Amino acid sequence: MFGLNNVWDVIIVGSGIAGLYTALNVSEKSKTLIITKGDIKESNSYNAQGGIAAAIGEDDSPDIHFQDTIRAGDGLCNPEAVKILVYSAPSIVEELIKLGVEFDRDETGRLDLGREGAHSRRRVLHSRGDSTGKAIMEVLVRRILEREVPVRDQTMVLELIVEDNICKGVLVWDKRSELIYPLFSKAVVLATGGIGQIYPFTTNPSVACGDGLAVAYNSGAELCDMEFVQFHPTVLKHPSAPSLLITESIRGEGGILRNVYGERFVPKYHEMGELAPRDVVSRIITEEMERTNSDYVYLDITHLSKEFILSHFPMIYRECLKYGIDITKDYIPVAPGAHYMMGGIRTNLKGETCIKGLYACGECAGTGIHGANRMASNSLLEGLVFGKIIAQEVSNYVFNNGDVDVLDIEVREKKIYKEELLKKFRSKMQHLMWKYCGIRREESGLKVLLEELERMQQEVIDMPVNNFQDVETKNMLLLSRLIAESALERKESRGAHFRVDYPYRDDIYWQKHIIKKKG
Ligand code: SIN
Repeated sequence: MFGLNNVWDVIIVGSGIAGLYTALNVSEKSKTLIITKGDIKESNSYNAQGGIAAAIGEDDSPDIHFQDTIRAGDGLCNPEAVKILVYSAPSIVEELIKLGVEFDRDETGRLDLGREGAHSRRRVLHSRGDSTGKAIMEVLVRRILEREVPVRDQTMVLELIVEDNICKGVLVWDKRSELIYPLFSKAVVLATGGIGQIYPFTTNPSVACGDGLAVAYNSGAELCDMEFVQFHPTVLKHPSAPSLLITESIRGEGGILRNVYGERFVPKYHEMGELAPRDVVSRIITEEMERTNSDYVYLDITHLSKEFILSHFPMIYRECLKYGIDITKDYIPVAPGAHYMMGGIRTNLKGETCIKGLYACGECAGTGIHGANRMASNSLLEGLVFGKIIAQEVSNYVFNNGDVDVLDIEVREKKIYKEELLKKFRSKMQHLMWKYCGIRREESGLKVLLEELERMQQEVIDMPVNNFQDVETKNMLLLSRLIAESALERKESRGAHFRVDYPYRDDIYWQKHIIKKKG
């Protein structure tokens, strides 16, 4: 029953930067398959505006990049992982250039280095201004197609196939054929990205539902640092516009935050002003919105030249103009939105999880690089650096492990049910998470949230799923619970986790990681 196209050496789940770069670096001798539940172009990486941090400026060094990352991580980074990241960054940039990525350069031809929050040096590389993610992903997709790595899109992972703590493949749902069937492999790499859709207002695309984390957890893998969700301070807030990220580089280039009365407010609360760490700026904005009884503040770059704005932020200019906002003349209405999951599937420095043959890479992985708060533009870099390391590990693992184990799992046709029962749970969960487990948290709210989430989870547990969204909703209910439990457990404030009832960092009790494992 199982043709060769269902048996692989390596299956990579996810088609963002981590998945594609891993695939490009796996040995060509390995039979590798990429699966993705949407289109190959739907990922956080594609939307990334901020660029790639690399210490290549004359006044910079990997050591300074290391110190900045550790400081941003607020005492919880894994220094070994950070070292690998920052020391590999310059050579990874070289590799991308060789692959065909054209980074922006200044008038002398040198790489143009931008500044973002928490970076003490200019070190952020962009390509096509604020379309860096798209520019890099287009090159990677082209290389994947040239190398003829097969990609199965519209295919969602429902479960990992794990026997005796060895990962032997994945059970997938193929939207086109409406079949549920197993794919067997010697190794599986999860590169499924973030969890932004757990919240109602997010920079993440609709596919970012944490599916990889949920299937890994259900199979016995460990999740760590789930309480650390980063909220980006500036997301476009306009009644008819999608929640578009307004890159931090705008503040890096002198953008000013103003309240609805046009008054600058951040420097009153923090000496670094608009470039204070993201969690701090997000909280200051939230308080200012409450104080002024508004659901947005403004970001103002009208003092920059039109030429500079058009060359550095062409995409934001075009997108805002669609909604009548000319960013060269008008203030941009913005509010904080969910952006990045610092935690994830716990891995060692080689991307290995506690399940043999199962690896995790990129945003879905918990390597400890980001600690309690990720520094801007370290995440595309993480996907590339660890994608390459994991590809080498996986290639060795595959080479040293005999045949693929083909288990007796039948192919089923997906039943479609009349009622769409799960739909209503998603928005309820999102609103509860925003209210009780968002930028500010406290014990009483987290307890209310957990009760609600547990009740909803019980209700949906046996509900039939009709489409990918239903599976996502079940996954997100599980992950919301794990985030809320971790947030309740951590009785301190650190990085992106802010507890109103425990507003200070507590290194005596809490300089440690919270790990979640089923059972
Ligand atoms: C941004 O451009 O502000 C986002 C960059 C990032 O989160 O790394």
